[in-house]
Amino acid sequence: MGSKELRNKFLKFFEERGHKIIPSASLIPENDSTTLFTGSGMQPLVPYLMGEPHSQGKRLVDIQKSFRAEDIEEVGDNRHTTFFEMMGNWSLGDYFKKEQLNWIFEFLVKEIQLDPKRLYVSVFRGNKEIGIEKDSKSVEIWKDIFKNYNIEANDIDFAEKNGMQDGRIFYYDETKNWWSRSGIPVNMPIGEIGGPDSEIFYDLGEDLKRHENSEYKDQPCHINCGCGRFIEIGNSVFIEFIRSEKRFDPLPQKNVDFGGGLERISMVLQGKNNIFETDLFINIIKKIEDLSGLKYADNMSAFEVIADHLRAATFIMGDDKGVMPSNIDQGYIVRRLIRRAIRYGRQLDIKKDLWIQEVSQVIIDDYKSVYPELFKNSKFIMNNLEKEEIKFGKTLEKGLKEFEKLFSHYKGDFKEFYLEVENLFNLYQTYGFPVELSIEEINKKRIQYGGVPISKDMEENFLNLFQEEIKKHQELSRTAAAGKFKGGLADTSEQTTKLHTACHLLLAALRKVLGNHVEQKGSNITAERLRFDFSHSEKLTNEQIKEIEEIVNKAIKNNLPITFEEMSLEDAKKQGASGVFESKYGEKVKVYTIGEKDNFFSKEICGGPHVKSIGNLGYFKIIKQESSGAGIRRVKAILE
Ligand code: ALA
Repeated sequence: MGSKELRNKFLKFFEERGHKIIPSASLIPENDSTTLFTGSGMQPLVPYLMGEPHSQGKRLVDIQKSFRAEDIEEVGDNRHTTFFEMMGNWSLGDYFKKEQLNWIFEFLVKEIQLDPKRLYVSVFRGNKEIGIEKDSKSVEIWKDIFKNYNIEANDIDFAEKNGMQDGRIFYYDETKNWWSRSGIPVNMPIGEIGGPDSEIFYDLGEDLKRHENSEYKDQPCHINCGCGRFIEIGNSVFIEFIRSEKRFDPLPQKNVDFGGGLERISMVLQGKNNIFETDLFINIIKKIEDLSGLKYADNMSAFEVIADHLRAATFIMGDDKGVMPSNIDQGYIVRRLIRRAIRYGRQLDIKKDLWIQEVSQVIIDDYKSVYPELFKNSKFIMNNLEKEEIKFGKTLEKGLKEFEKLFSHYKGDFKEFYLEVENLFNLYQTYGFPVELSIEEINKKRIQYGGVPISKDMEENFLNLFQEEIKKHQELSRTAAAGKFKGGLADTSEQTTKLHTACHLLLAALRKVLGNHVEQKGSNITAERLRFDFSHSEKLTNEQIKEIEEIVNKAIKNNLPITFEEMSLEDAKKQGASGVFESKYGEKVKVYTIGEKDNFFSKEICGGPHVKSIGNLGYFKIIKQESSGAGIRRVKAILE
């Protein structure tokens, strides 16, 4: 069965069961400043999971474009990609566990004919500390389901220690069987929703000897062991809790959020052991074979990185809210994906100019019937790919020259190339020269001069040191965007720090002029300007804008003191600090105060950094205002 048929069958199956088909939301989240990308089907539906009525009713089905930057390093095993399509069915306070588990099993076994004997399931073990009970209800339902297929279904605890023990239903803790946007329960900020889940795994079979050949060989194999024998193909999340100060409270409605990876289900349906061998990737892989003259089977991980990254970049640029490569936020991720693909292309010795466009064209052709926006935006995609390839080519050329200067004395005789971490960091920082290329170049020199090639361990140690260097640097000059993505490139200029401080002044002024309903809904800072989203439903009048500017400029002129203190979240709130992302910071938070401590102008929970002296900010000016969704205004402002 091809992936197109799978898509259609899924939508139709749930449509026949009273669900309305809704289109995929954008990959770029709307009014959600917590993540850069839509990473799951539930993200665009959060308000409806919390009780707001959805125009299409209480039963929905969709296939959501999703992107998870955090999986970038995992690409190259048999089952991870950064971009993926998530098949989802939804109960917004309608049906619950019984219908969901029965239907999804029926879909997998009857509708698309997976062998039920190869299916295994997991459920939440419960956790007394957070007051959530073991999910016995799901176990009971699963037992009945398997019974219908004459499959014995023992429920087993602690498979992590004792292995499969002929079980069919397995209990795991919250690291495996709990879902929220922020992961395990203790990481959930106040107001975040989530719940226990039940995953379905497909057994690829023992014959591949995956386990014995994997890094897990000394532990028992079980459905979650990571060796790759069992692949998770779907997850029914029972979103029924909301995090409050100390506890989890029941939501006013019990929801179902099912997510199944289209790539993974296609893989098992098509009898493959690797998602890159499915019809979703095969043309892309063939194109890379043509371009490189090499075989996929001999270069699997490089092929997979190229295929995955260019597919993801094509979808992000080709979204109707398409983003182009840049140095901040989503644009930085696109840049990283494209440049990483080009680097792996170099490894495969692909020489042709603009080859990434050719790969992207295959992706557009393959996907345009399902995602017409890719075709519609193909000019934008192609232009940006061209620009980025040329830009990166120049970066590499310049970087290599600098590298040669720095290492002209280097004869491959350094025992400790670790000593070079600072130099190579500068090369990365100043010229954008990727550290992986530096390592390759050093390696070449070592070999040229008869030295020992850099081992995997050495490389890993070096990369860890490099990460530390990046962190050190980031802590010195962190912008709002930094930290959203591991290894994210923070914009480090003095100007962004100034604009960050100006954001605090702006929020305080907005509240003074418009009222205390104003909350920050997101911000974005470049070296040139700040962008600030806040809750307020009307357009600002010219008078209001003027008043806001005056208040900010007066604070600057008066050179109000700026100080920070670390305190518990509770104390911060008691003192009247504002902060959008409050509980994400954990127990102790940093609170920045502008003005006198007891008679402050502004007080915000914030990681910093800020300028030392407000008086040097310059003249604050709002240059633009617009709407940024229902009830949200956006202003752009500069410091002259
Ligand atoms: N929201 C769930 C997930 O992404 C289905 O796994």
